[in-house]
Amino acid sequence: STALPYPRELVTKLSELVINQPLYFNYPDNRSPCVVIRRGREIKSGAGPDKDVVAYSTQCTHMGCPVSYDQEAEAFKCPCHYSIFDPDNTGQMVIGQATENLPRIILEYDDAEDALMAVSIDGLIYGRQANII
Ligand code: FES
Repeated sequence: STALPYPRELVTKLSELVINQPLYFNYPDNRSPCVVIRRGREIKSGAGPDKDVVAYSTQCTHMGCPVSYDQEAEAFKCPCHYSIFDPDNTGQMVIGQATENLPRIILEYDDAEDALMAVSIDGLIYGRQANII
């Protein structure tokens, strides 16, 4: 494969995450906004000792608008054309104009450091031909 390798980057200490409160970061470079959320219950694709941490690109897969995390709805909402994405089901689009799930940031948990590390992405960041450019 000619694909460039993903960087392995610290997202946050797990202990710094508050349940259901989004923390924004960039990955795999500083032009790619992302969000990490500790859900407080086990998620199929969740990371960490409780398998409850998920992370996604915040660029909507429809036209790239920034989605935000609605803490009451517990869903990502796009302000441009009202797509909604599910954090607990691999970023799947629930309703709206988008045709792709939100790209999911693959996380690994470093127990010794209490560190959540971003290591890869499942899905293509909006507007890119490759995630690593
Ligand atoms: Fe998000 Fe259109 S850009 S729904």
